[in-house]
Amino acid sequence: MSHEDKPYPTDFVLFGARGDLSMRKLLPALFQLHRAGLLHPDTRIVGAARGADSVEGFRDEVSATLNRYVKPSDLKGSAGRDFLERLDYVDVDFTEPEGFRRIAEKVDHSQRVMVNYLATPPGLFGDICSHLHAAGAISDSSRIILEKPIGHDLASSREINDRVCRYFDESRVYRIDHYLGKETVQNLIALRFANNLFGSQWNQNHIDHVQVTVAETVGLEGRWSYYDRTGQMRDMVQNHLLQLLCMVAMDPPSQLTADGIRDEKLKVLRALRPITAENIHRRAVRGQYTAGAVKGQSCPGYREEEGSEGSSNTETFVALRINIDNWRWAGVPFYLRTGKRMPTKMSEIVIVYRNQPHYIFDPKQKGVVTNKLIIRLQPDEGIRLQVVTKKQSLDRGMALHSQALNLNFSEGEEDQRIPDAYERLILEAMRGNQSLFVRRDEVEASWVWCDALIDAWEDSGDEVRPYSAGSWGPIGSIALIERDGRSWHE
Ligand code: BG6
Repeated sequence: MSHEDKPYPTDFVLFGARGDLSMRKLLPALFQLHRAGLLHPDTRIVGAARGADSVEGFRDEVSATLNRYVKPSDLKGSAGRDFLERLDYVDVDFTEPEGFRRIAEKVDHSQRVMVNYLATPPGLFGDICSHLHAAGAISDSSRIILEKPIGHDLASSREINDRVCRYFDESRVYRIDHYLGKETVQNLIALRFANNLFGSQWNQNHIDHVQVTVAETVGLEGRWSYYDRTGQMRDMVQNHLLQLLCMVAMDPPSQLTADGIRDEKLKVLRALRPITAENIHRRAVRGQYTAGAVKGQSCPGYREEEGSEGSSNTETFVALRINIDNWRWAGVPFYLRTGKRMPTKMSEIVIVYRNQPHYIFDPKQKGVVTNKLIIRLQPDEGIRLQVVTKKQSLDRGMALHSQALNLNFSEGEEDQRIPDAYERLILEAMRGNQSLFVRRDEVEASWVWCDALIDAWEDSGDEVRPYSAGSWGPIGSIALIERDGRSWHE
């Protein structure tokens, strides 16, 4: 099937269909695919969950969620009604075999490809797969999409993958990292590998350092029991930030295939220099927010969040200085930072270029400006290239300043709406394209590196450092980069 083709008729079984992720993201994403004509007319969506009293009851809930999360203009006409018609529902307890027989009755392998989406806690992945198998619900063509987190560390991720892979071989497993579905992350591939201008300069000869910032204004949103066991390192760095790093750092694949891309990402993960108890004080900072205000709204400290028992050493902020030990990146640090309750929601990658080898302008201007390529993931998806130009005037000689070449992705496009990451990911899984999904060896390589870092934190007795909600994290994060004579891009 070529990439432009519509997906095959699909039986899309959504486990955890009444949960927060399904209601907020997955069902609206499926609706948008339906509206764009990207679902095959025979595709059906089976919600598998507990507690809805009937198919009608489930459809009513989905209708309410669409009204809440989809723009009213997108719901005009019959699109919403037609989408609801595609929905079916099975009430099922995922720990018991019983309901899985009813799922088996709903799918038709001779007519449709079965795609199972597990929007459930990872502890249930193994049970769901074995019950699906025992009920005869899956065939050799059935696929499975797994939501992150895949495990809590290397050992638990292996255990989960082992159980899933008993029933689904790797070519049928689609591990989600929704950052890979974001438009601008995909555009990194075009930017790097379709533009000689950037491709030829993408190395230690030209780049001084790279920054990746993923900042969120939200706190826990009622997820204490999950988050306090997890922390920002496992929730965001192990997956989203390391995947972004890989997309920036990987070598060009020889072909744009799923394994071509994933082989190159894996090499980067394996080349990450370990952060150890000896150097962790200079390489990593972790913080936890205290009470403060975000966008003028006061918010409680982490330890006062709903569900808290008052004490916790879980980090809500991480800043790292990472080295990649290969030829392309020798001596080029990657600075990563991510946190909850930051002043603004913003994700961006900043490539900071080296200065010219010999400076011929007024030395007072030296260092004032550098070339930077700023890749904005959200909001305002786009790319900005900061270039040095002469100030226009007759009497100021060769005074320099920095100006930006701006490329805003939504401008100039007929359809201004930038699709949500989940729309792209669900569609690609239906098309059978694994490029945007994380392979098992990538997940494991990432855990190897993260486990070592987390252990180093424990061994060093490092406490989380407080920062006020609404600030850019603990002061140590600024020191981490300023120690190298650099600063975070504002
Ligand atoms: C999820 C994390 O994977 O990503 C959340 O579990 C986080 O804690 C979310 O809030 C951020 O995603 P986005 O797309 O809003 O940046």
